[in-house]
Amino acid sequence: MIEVSRAARADIPEIAAVAATAFSEPWSAPLFEQELRLPEARLWVAREGARSIGYLAARRVADEVHVLSVAVDPARRRCGAARALLEAVLRDEMASGARTALLEVRASNLAAQAFYASAGFVAVGRRPRYYESGEDALLMTRSSRGRPAGGSRAAAASG
Ligand SMILES: CC(C)(COP(=O)(O)OP(=O)(O)OC[C@H]1O[C@@H](n2cnc3c(N)ncnc32)[C@H](O)[C@@H]1OP(=O)(O)O)[C@@H](O)C(=O)NCCC(=O)NCCS
Repeated sequence: MIEVSRAARADIPEIAAVAATAFSEPWSAPLFEQELRLPEARLWVAREGARSIGYLAARRVADEVHVLSVAVDPARRRCGAARALLEAVLRDEMASGARTALLEVRASNLAAQAFYASAGFVAVGRRPRYYESGEDALLMTRSSRGRPAGGSRAAAASG
């Protein structure tokens, strides 16, 4: 069974290990530690038994939740871990007044875009050359009622 919870400092080595399986330039353990010290940081971990299989890092600024990074161990994908992480952080933040969630995702990362779309996020813009490599980012948003912020009803409305 997959369980999600707020992460603590002790979770960081396993979280960094998951990041290393998912990204060519992953956040390092010291970077996660630095992030965790910020009051606006929200770091969640997904566990199966004693093992961490995924994480989600976000920041809460005013009434917005900015999703910064999410990854799941390649061997445990398509089991609902990322969905559970995303819904947990959004539920928690919406309960304390957040109204919208936003994120940037690589234009080439179609799997992540499909994941976010399945959770009710909608692409509302493009940030040219957002990444160091020169790649564009898509800007995706979801409102507190599972709709794109300022837009029409999303197909996969939830939350
Ligand atoms: C994107 C990622 C986090 C999804 O994690 P996951 O745990 O496999 O996702 P879930 O199992 O919660 O998927 C929920 C839904 O999202 C959609 N989805 C997820 N992965 C998908 C894929 N590769 N292709 C198409 N749709 C996908 C599906 O609708 C899925 O539901 P289904 O399995 O019932 O069809 C994972 O693929 C990953 O770690 N990728 C590498 C890191 C990354 O790109 N992160 C995002 C940018 S920061």
